[in-house]
Amino acid sequence: GIDVTSLRAKTGWITFDPGFANTGACKSSITHIDGERGLLRYRGYPLEQLAERASFVETAMLLMFGELPARDELAEFRGMLRDQELLHEGLLKHLDGFPPLGQPMAILSAMINALGSYYPELLNIRTDAEYRLAAAKIMSKVRTIAAFSFRTADGLPLMYPNPHMDYCRNFLHMMFSVPFRLYEPPAPIVRALSLFFIAHADHGLDTSCATVRMVGSSQANLFASISAAICALWGRLHGGAGVGVMEMLEEVRGGRITTQGLLEEAKAGRRRLMGFGQRVYKCYDPRATLIRKAYENLLSAGMARRDPLFDIALDIEGQAQNDDYFLERRLFPNVNFYSGLLLKAINIPVPMFPVMIAIGNMPGFIAHWHEEWKDTEMKIHRPRQVYTGKNQRDYTPMDKR
Ligand code: ACO
Repeated sequence: GIDVTSLRAKTGWITFDPGFANTGACKSSITHIDGERGLLRYRGYPLEQLAERASFVETAMLLMFGELPARDELAEFRGMLRDQELLHEGLLKHLDGFPPLGQPMAILSAMINALGSYYPELLNIRTDAEYRLAAAKIMSKVRTIAAFSFRTADGLPLMYPNPHMDYCRNFLHMMFSVPFRLYEPPAPIVRALSLFFIAHADHGLDTSCATVRMVGSSQANLFASISAAICALWGRLHGGAGVGVMEMLEEVRGGRITTQGLLEEAKAGRRRLMGFGQRVYKCYDPRATLIRKAYENLLSAGMARRDPLFDIALDIEGQAQNDDYFLERRLFPNVNFYSGLLLKAINIPVPMFPVMIAIGNMPGFIAHWHEEWKDTEMKIHRPRQVYTGKNQRDYTPMDKR
């Protein structure tokens, strides 16, 4: 019965919650996570069902527009994606300006932000039709930008999108086809990529999605808000963790550390066991289960050779699950632990791993930005701080410092 809002306004009380572990910043009807039971649902549908039966575009539409699309709606949106798959020539010059080994996440973030200056009519979205168009532009172009940045970094000629291919196949074509030798990925590879994207499509208010909402709360445009989210995703504790996992597994393979040594270092607080632990899940991350299964499916379908890093990962997981430190803190593999192996099996190079997560996460970013934009109760995000600096002091002249 207490009106907390007015109480706070009158007393100036502040809840100190570093990392916002227990602070609800918005209401959302997009994704439900039960971290105790390891459940993840997009708009009510269990992730496992979508991963098994839906395409990535269907899943994206569910997240962005609220419902699974009917056949004609899906066909129409696929058409919009196809219409939006090319980049403005000016953007290609932008891409050309990056150094050959430019960081793919820096490129992606800059290019998505730059889209805003090419489509000024979408900087202030007012109607559902404008929202759909902006969503199609970002979903479609993010894949072209990602593939082109990889090709440029590798000094390969750009492969333009093929309008006859579906979302995932088209991406693989832009990544791996070369002139006169088109890459025709086997169906299990396309399916594995689709599953990877679906597993990353949304995860509630994780750091990058919270960034979308933080930036969007100032009424910043969709492109700018997503560009900021990509920067947040880049960090090694978030979307960059997959790179850290691969480096860690390589360290063990190269004999620079043993599995036991790795666990001891983590327990002593000298390093983090990459791909382990998660703010919300206090059990096995359901996305990790899916991704590991997808990798094993590729192995059994003969689509990949068993990577020695997989056995190292299994060994790390096995030892950690028998160790009180990890059990007491309820630290289990998270989505990144096996995802690198899956991406490697699809031939995606390690520096592109966070970019792949960003592509997958795009529907969630877009959906959250839109939900916030429509929310009449939403206020500008402005967390408070507890000031620990000096009290007032007088200016010190230069010769007295
Ligand atoms: N290795 C070793 N110890 C860990 C790890 C880890 N990976 N993760 C957490 N811990 C320990 C902490 O040291 C802490 O121990 P303490 O209570 O003795 O101090 C306890 O577990 C709780 O950890 P917090 O840091 O408070 O957990 P938080 O929720 O803040 O962090 C995070 C979550 C950042 C994911 C963390 O588990 C981590 O650093 N993991 C490794 C990086 C990683 O894989 N990130 C990807 C996350 S998934 C995603 O972003 C898509």
